[in-house]
Formats: sequence, structure tokens, C-alpha cells
Amino acid sequence: MTIILGAKDIKKSYRMGKVLVPALRGVSFEVREGELVTIFGPSGSGKSTLLHLIGCLDRPDEGEILIDGFNVLRVSDDELAELRLKKIGFVFQFFNLLPRLTALKNVQLPLTIAGTSEEEALKRAEETLKLVGLEARMHHKPSELSGGEQQRVAIARALINNPKIVLADEPTGNLDTKTGWEIVQLMKELNEKKGQTFVVVTHDPHIAETAHRIIHLKDGLIEGIKEAPKRNKL
Ligand SMILES: Nc1ncnc2c1ncn2[C@@H]1O[C@H](COP(=O)(O)OP(=O)(O)O)[C@@H](O)[C@H]1O
Ligand SMILES: [Mg+2]
Repeated sequence: MTIILGAKDIKKSYRMGKVLVPALRGVSFEVREGELVTIFGPSGSGKSTLLHLIGCLDRPDEGEILIDGFNVLRVSDDELAELRLKKIGFVFQFFNLLPRLTALKNVQLPLTIAGTSEEEALKRAEETLKLVGLEARMHHKPSELSGGEQQRVAIARALINNPKIVLADEPTGNLDTKTGWEIVQLMKELNEKKGQTFVVVTHDPHIAETAHRIIHLKDGLIEGIKEAPKRNKL
């Protein structure tokens, strides 16, 4: 069984004027290839901080992070940017699409940045939009799409470079319950059919339960890791 992500005793504090606010106080876990893991906890428990650190958007104060065998704390900022581009896909609560670009161009962009030819990038962006059920809307701009559709575009963009792992921070947080649930089902389907590894942050217990494993975070510490009863173990 391949370990895609390893976090070992990671600590992170934020400086607020003269005080240090501890966000993570020593967090360790692993994610296996093909798993869907949820990080579950109340607001302020450190979920976003943790996702930013494992996504190499920020560096911890202490600890070790391994992604696909790379110790991300030992590499330069440039190498880290490259690793992020090629190995990690991100999905955010507010979609973070570029408003002037069509769905197709938004999805194509990470491939173009990675140096893929225009023709190949377009072809793959179309295929990936089809995969998330949006082929009919690919020439629309984000403002012409519903929230659920925008999140599907963001998921397609996250998948386009065939990342080792997709990280999603409250991906349903800006959607109504029904649409949010459809987005969760889409990620679950991509996990089951394509074997895509996901780490999904949520404060919704119902969504947390869709994972293979639930990491329960509280006050910057892991309170427990639970194997989800509804899913088969990997
Ligand atoms: N940029 C920041 N500056 C100062 N404190 C922060 C910052 N980001 C997060 N925090 C604090 O760190 C703790 C964890 O926050 P966060 O990771 O956003 O939790 P969650 O995503 O679970 O709501 C909270 O106490 C929060 O106020
Ligand atoms: Mg958060």
C-alpha cells in the first residue's frame, strides 16, 4: 500500500501582534493512495491551516511533511511550486475561478502553465469537463454558471494535471445542501472510479461520513481517527 501523504508532528502558530496563536499543536497522520479522507472539526480547530500545510501553500513551524516520497520542507520555494503544480490539486470553498476566462480556459490553465501544448491542453480540458458532467457549459464564464457548476469546473481544474492528491477545503460551504451533496457524490465517484485520492475538509458530520477515514480535529490536535462504517476498507 502506497502512502501518498505523511504528516509527522506538525505544529503551526500565527503571530497576532505580540501573542502567538497556536493553530496546530502536533498533528500526525498518513493518507494512502486511493483513499478519500475527511478532516472534520468545528470552526477554528485548525482544518484550513492543516490543508494549507499539506498542500505546500505554507510551511509549518515544526514537523515533517512527505508528499509522494518528497520531504517538502527540504526543498526550495521553486521546487515547492513545481511539486504543487504537478502533484496536488486544490478545491476551495469560493471556487477561485478566474472570472474573465471560460470554464474550458480555467480548466486548461494549469496544463498550459505546466508546459503542455495548446492542442493537447484543450483536448484534456474538454475530457475533464465531460468527466464532471459539464461538457454543455464549457464555453461559459463563471458568472454564467451556478455555484454547483462552478465547483465542478474547480474540480476539473484540480484534476487536470493528474495530481497524486486533491485537497478540498469546505468545498460545499458555499452551496445549498442538495447541490453540496451532489458535489460530495461527484468526489466520491471520482475516488471510486478513477482511484483519485482526496482529502476533504468539512465541519458537516454527514459529509465527513462519506470518507474511508475521518480525522477528527479539535483545538489543533487530532482527537481521533475513525474508519468510516459505510465504506469498505482499502
Ligand atoms: N492568518 C491567521 N492569522 C492569525 N490567526 C489565524 C490565521 N489563520 C488562522 N488563525 C487561527 O488559527 C486557528 C485555526 O484556524 P483555521 O485553520 O482557519 O481553522 P478552521 O479551518 O478549522 O476553521 C484559529 O484560532 C484561527 O483564528
Ligand atoms: Mg477553515
